[in-house]
Amino acid sequence: MTPADTPIALGCDHAGPELKAALRAALEAAGHPVLDFGTDGPDSVDYPDYAHSVAAAVEAGRARFGVLVCGTGIGMAIAANRHAGIRAAVLHGPTEARLTRAHNDANIACFGARIIGVETALDALRAFLATPYEGGRHDRRLAKLSARQDIPA
Ligand code: RB5
Repeated sequence: MTPADTPIALGCDHAGPELKAALRAALEAAGHPVLDFGTDGPDSVDYPDYAHSVAAAVEAGRARFGVLVCGTGIGMAIAANRHAGIRAAVLHGPTEARLTRAHNDANIACFGARIIGVETALDALRAFLATPYEGGRHDRRLAKLSARQDIPA
């Protein structure tokens, strides 16, 4: 991972403190500042609260990227993707991580703590952070993500 000045924002619900801690430790060991929004224990919480905190930090530029963990990663991605400037992807390994950075300019990586092993999640996060957005033909497609289109039902 390449150290950068802008923090990486982290958040999880009660399914994810252990995986979040492992991802945070790897980020810090690689020199990344982190903004950790919790949660840090087993008490039941609501994943959208953490997704919105991380997404808002990325949207506002207080964080370069976000990392969200819940049971499946899916609820976090659904919540984060309601923010206009966010492209959150659920990752199961490094190939998706590389491609979603290169093609979708994804800015939040979501993991399912009940789905993925720690080592695979770490590999995916490293690939996510190491891969630049390709631009080019993908710019037009990203513009269509944020353009409101009236599509007849
Ligand atoms: C919590 O039990 C679970 O629903 C949550 O972690 C997540 O998987 C939602 O998408």
